[in-house]
Amino acid sequence: MYLQITKLNKDFQTKNGTLVVLKDINMTIKQGEFICAVGASGSGKSTLLRQIAGLDNPTSGEVRIDGEVITGPGPDRGMVFQHYTLYPWMNVQENTEFGLKLQGVPKKVRKEQASYYLSVVGLANFAKSLPKELSGGMKQRAAIARALASEPKVLLMDEPFGALDIHTKESMHEFMLDLWQRTKITVFMITHDVEEAVFLSNRIYALGARPGTVRKEITVKLPDRSHSVKRHTIFHDYRDELMELLRKHGQEATAVAA
Ligand SMILES: Nc1ncnc2c1ncn2[C@@H]1O[C@H](COP(=O)(O)OP(=O)(O)OP(=O)(O)O)[C@@H](O)[C@H]1O
Ligand SMILES: [Mg+2]
Repeated sequence: MYLQITKLNKDFQTKNGTLVVLKDINMTIKQGEFICAVGASGSGKSTLLRQIAGLDNPTSGEVRIDGEVITGPGPDRGMVFQHYTLYPWMNVQENTEFGLKLQGVPKKVRKEQASYYLSVVGLANFAKSLPKELSGGMKQRAAIARALASEPKVLLMDEPFGALDIHTKESMHEFMLDLWQRTKITVFMITHDVEEAVFLSNRIYALGARPGTVRKEITVKLPDRSHSVKRHTIFHDYRDELMELLRKHGQEATAVAA
């Protein structure tokens, strides 16, 4: 599997004229990578993810998965958003099965598949719970199970941990790394949190703002991915480099002080 974004531009027509949001984006994501695109607020991160998800079309350029140009949404891409998107009237199991149901997957198969992914994210005992009975972190794990249930080629995540408190966020980071190692899933995640990007990804695209464009591509090599690596000089060097890039090319990026 590979995901290829080539010469992608995205403009919006506004009452003040043409707004160039994404300019000449080129990215290649290979099978099994954990990629973060980091950028300040307004750098076009969500817009970029929407083009990959097929929820919107680029003004020019293209996104391909395994050589096929993306023209709309599809089960080969699983989406997780910042804001909780579980249907409040469905229990966790029904939420997880929902995409499969839309695809016409037979009841028995979708039940098994959803149950499997709920156990993968550690929510097997909450299958019958309603979303309102779950904590924020659990809701996001359920959203991840729902996205994984269709066995997508790539998991697309738009600031999935942005609404969580710092402790829940940290445990979700550990959960994501563990999930990634266990399932070998390809992840493309966007965030404005520089430390999150360094801790999770094997490669980072740093986006500048107005227009959103790739300023630098950084391969992350850490001695390990334990919590204590955040105190390591190498970790700080990556964080500082990214902070400096975003400071130069956008105003609103954040890093949690170490
Ligand atoms: N449908 C649209 N019509 C007009 N302008 C849009 C549209 N969608 C996004 N924009 C503009 O594009 C720019 C980038 O928006 P986008 O939501 O992609 O940024 P972002 O990097 O995800 O920001 P944040 O970190 O705040 O989520 C913004 O200036 C926004 O106002
Ligand atoms: Mg956004």
